[in-house]
Amino acid sequence: MTHHIAVIPGDGIGREVTTEAVRILTAVGDIDLEPLPWGADHFLATGETIPSGGYDTLRSFDAIFVGALGDPRVPDNRHARDILLGTRFELDLYVNYRPVRLLDARLCPLKDRTPRDVNFVVFRENTEGVYVGVGGRFKAGTSEEVAIQEDINTFKGVNRIVRHAFAFARARGLARVCMADKSNAMTHAHALWQRVFQEVGAEYPDIQATHLYIDALAMFLVQDPAQFDVIVTNNLFGDIITDIGGALQGGLGMAASGNIHPGRTSMFEPVHGSAPPLAGKDAANPIGAILSAALMLETLGRSDDSARIERAVEGAVRAGEVTRDVGGTLGTRAAGAAILRRLR
Ligand code: NAD
Ligand code: IPM
Ligand code: MN
Repeated sequence: MTHHIAVIPGDGIGREVTTEAVRILTAVGDIDLEPLPWGADHFLATGETIPSGGYDTLRSFDAIFVGALGDPRVPDNRHARDILLGTRFELDLYVNYRPVRLLDARLCPLKDRTPRDVNFVVFRENTEGVYVGVGGRFKAGTSEEVAIQEDINTFKGVNRIVRHAFAFARARGLARVCMADKSNAMTHAHALWQRVFQEVGAEYPDIQATHLYIDALAMFLVQDPAQFDVIVTNNLFGDIITDIGGALQGGLGMAASGNIHPGRTSMFEPVHGSAPPLAGKDAANPIGAILSAALMLETLGRSDDSARIERAVEGAVRAGEVTRDVGGTLGTRAAGAAILRRLR
């Protein structure tokens, strides 16, 4: 079966890493890729972030692949908000799935850690929290300015991401689910997370449900990442800790993600952004993007193709045929080619 994929390379290094992911997907085969030009250039040229009917266009594909969005010429990042966050909200992609897997001990910034110590997944709630844009600025630009950014947490939203985390743990035979919040300070919103986590956890007596405050979780991610199998948290905290997760894998260039609504059109992208200082220099690490393409195939039910890509990436990493951020000497194109060559 041929899958129809929308491809939004976007801005900066997003375009370069997408080129490499597309080469891999093309080699895997049975994939029809349709590039969409949305991004900063398109916005600056046309004034359009996403065309009207754009979300319906996206829904008509089997999946969406995104490079990265963000450009210093668009200081308020309006186009990224509409394209990236807009798609998460409009397509109701409530699961932000961010695996953190160290592929080679040499890449880990922590001393004496091996791939056995860094192997967990983060489920970040992806449709609520402070990201929804509810709020406003009163007396903006004056010395009396009031800025409000509401934190939206609903039973539906918290329940479905917490359930997803437990169901994933059970399906994969993982022992532990850790929920991280700030219920000691955010006494209203995170009381809801506490209640839901206890209720859902009680339905999974086979899985050890633990809780950490987010500040302690950040500390333990660095001090003892081996204690984690599955972490579930809100939108903002999940954003922050998955950059730590990127670092644990060797750097942001290694980290993959999926924005998923199970059974519906979902969107896949590396965790990193457009990295303006690296853009156009053939320096960006394409592995996060390529592993995101693998996640996409896995989610589409093509586990064999996904595993093929992962094995090729692991081979290139073991051989040190990688970009400079992870200790190699290659540029983006050559690092992509080293993976392509190993695709069997
Ligand atoms: P960033 O992730 O773009 O980059 C931070 C730093 O991480 C880079 O300067 C670089 O040192 C390193 N890095 C990131 N990706 C790398 C790669 N593939 N290879 C090697 N090194 C890599 O974060 P930022 O600088 O905070 O944000 C830049 C722009 O990207 C902003 O506009 C931001 O809003 C946007 N952004 C977009 C996404 C997305 O589209 N999903 C994600 C994060 C940030
Ligand atoms: C991410 C990014 C986005 C986020 C930005 C670009 C809005 O950092 O996907 O991790 O915060 O979700
Ligand atoms: Mn982020």
